[in-house]
Amino acid sequence: MQKKEQLYEGKAKKVYATDDPDLLIVAYKDDATAFNGLKKGTICGKGVINNQMSNRLMQRLEREGVPTHLVKELSERETLVRRVEIVPLEVIVRNIAAGSFSKRYGVPEGVVFDAPTVEFSYKNDALGDPLINTSHAMAMHLAREDEIETIKRYALRVNEVLRAVWADCGVTLVDFKLEFGRLSDGTIILADEISPDTCRLWDSKTGKKLDKDRFRRDLGDVEDAYTEVMRRLCEHDA
Ligand code: TMP
Repeated sequence: MQKKEQLYEGKAKKVYATDDPDLLIVAYKDDATAFNGLKKGTICGKGVINNQMSNRLMQRLEREGVPTHLVKELSERETLVRRVEIVPLEVIVRNIAAGSFSKRYGVPEGVVFDAPTVEFSYKNDALGDPLINTSHAMAMHLAREDEIETIKRYALRVNEVLRAVWADCGVTLVDFKLEFGRLSDGTIILADEISPDTCRLWDSKTGKKLDKDRFRRDLGDVEDAYTEVMRRLCEHDA
C-alpha cells in the first residue's frame, strides 16, 4: 500500500492518505507532550513500541469482539488503518484513582474502585480537553445517545480484556484513554492507540509506574519503562 500525502500531524503520530480512500497509514513518532502540549520531549524508541503494542492489543480486542481500525502493521512505526471520522470524545476508564481524578476529587492515588468508572472529555486542544457529560455531548451533536451507549459498552469490554492481559504480565491497569470513530456507514469502531502514552500501567508487585507518568512527572527511566512493559507483553501474550 503506497503512502500518499500527509493529511494530519498530531502530537504523537502522522496520518497519510493511501490509494484507497477507506484506508490511511499512521506513523508513530518519538515525540512526547504533556499538559496539553506545554511540556515537550522525546522518548527514544517510543514510536516503535507504541505502534507494535497498540496493534498487538487491538488484535486481541478484535478476537474478543471489539471492532478496531487495525488493518495491518506495515513496518516498525507504520500501520494501515481504516479511515474513520473521529468522535471528538476522549473516553477514560479508571480502575484505581490516579491523575486528574485524584487531583479533582482529592482521592489519594492508589484507591481501588469497587467498579470501573467511565468519563468523557471533549477532544478540543484550544479548550484543554474539558470533562464533559453525555447530555452536553449530545447537545453539541458530538455523538448520538445510541453511539454513546455503544462506546461505553465497548470501553468497559476493553477494560475487562486488557486488565486480564496486563495481569498476566504482572502489570496493573490503573486507567486508560480510548478514542472511537465512525466508518462511512456509521459503524462505531475503536481507533487511535493503546500504549503506555494512553494507559497507566503499574508493576503489580512494586507499584512502579511503567507508563508516560514517568515523563509527565520527571521520574526518569522513561525509555526503560516502555521497553519493560513491551517485553512483558511479548512474553506473556502469545
Ligand atoms: P488523567 O488522570 O490525566 O485524566 O488521565 C487518565 C488516562 O488518560 C491516563 O491513563 C492517561 C490518559 N491520557 C491520555 O491518553 N491523553 C491525555 O491527553 C490525558 C490528559 C490523559
